[in-house]
Amino acid sequence: MMSFGALIHGHAHPRLVAVVSEAMAQGSHFAAATSAEVEAAERFRSMVPSAEVVRFTNTGSEATMLALRLARAHTGRASFLKFEGHYHGWYDPFLLNAHGHPPEQLGLLENPARIPDSEGIPSATFDDVVLAPWNNIAVLERIMQKHGHELAAVITEPIMANMGCIPPREGYLQRLRELTRDYGVLLILDEVVTGFRYAPGGCQEYYGIQPDISTFGKALGAGFPVGAVAGPRSILDRMRWSDHMVLHYGTFNGHRLTMKVVAANLDLLSRSDTYRNLHTVGDEAIAGLREVFRRRNIKAIVQGFGPMFQIYFTERDAIHDYRDYCAYADTARYSQFVHLLLERGIYMTPSNGLHWIISTAHTKADVAALIEAADHACAHLK
Ligand SMILES: Cc1ncc(COP(=O)(O)O)c(C=O)c1O
Repeated sequence: MMSFGALIHGHAHPRLVAVVSEAMAQGSHFAAATSAEVEAAERFRSMVPSAEVVRFTNTGSEATMLALRLARAHTGRASFLKFEGHYHGWYDPFLLNAHGHPPEQLGLLENPARIPDSEGIPSATFDDVVLAPWNNIAVLERIMQKHGHELAAVITEPIMANMGCIPPREGYLQRLRELTRDYGVLLILDEVVTGFRYAPGGCQEYYGIQPDISTFGKALGAGFPVGAVAGPRSILDRMRWSDHMVLHYGTFNGHRLTMKVVAANLDLLSRSDTYRNLHTVGDEAIAGLREVFRRRNIKAIVQGFGPMFQIYFTERDAIHDYRDYCAYADTARYSQFVHLLLERGIYMTPSNGLHWIISTAHTKADVAALIEAADHACAHLK
């Protein structure tokens, strides 16, 4: 679980414990910007290619909320496009179709049924939301033709991480980038899950995509509550104090203790072998699990690569999008599987909609224990 992906170095990394203890003795938080915030921002900028400027928030939800406000202010447009099955935090307008539902409730591919994820949201909140299926270029082109000129932003996860783990099809993110540029729409890349996990610069580096705005959280704080919005000065400078500013307040933004942790965390992540190791350990776990399912003759696939993946119990050879997940992932079997893993001391989310996380603390010995536990679970699956 690794705290939903926050614990990129596992629990209680000695360097982070020392940094927090020392910083706490000097005072946890001040009203003004601190040198700790500057140190964190400098390291962030050196790692994330699109981060000319970065602004810190306390959570990923606050980061996506701010990103959307900036995009709306910058373009002067109100509408935005979100994809089925993508989760961007719990801010009202993002809460459409972020949960799985029976396939018969999903409506047409090009005109999906709009299913709010929460009570308590006025329906007018969704008037400015265009909902689209993900990972399908042809449908995206048609939806952009119809709505492109009215959109402030398209927001997307680079790898879909809230219906398990669904990588983009070859060329999908690149085409999305082209289309958003063509229509003068800002691309918000939500790297709250993928940031500082797949590569120093997240998926934008891994896939070579230049977003207009990107959002971060989770691994950035190594267990501390933080989020971030990154992008060019021309967009983020709109937050500068003036009569026409984009407002971003918050008592705890740039919290000094957290900023100290962020700076130390990014130093740890910048060590030369970090990402090679994360990928190697993750790929070994994936290969080992696949082999167990093959040997035990269990119909299951392991999707994803390196530091993040998910198991789907399915007859299909891939889950490509939200609709595949809703129709073909046997979530009850998955739940049974992870409860059996618990008997061997492996704690994994019982939700098939989340994913497995590799941290820098995981080793080949942990992979061996996982494979042994998976074999036990497969032997007892009903
Ligand atoms: C892709 C994505 N964006 C945003 C968020 C919201 O982050 P937080 O839980 O820190 O508010 C999440 C949380 O899981 C997420 O998965």
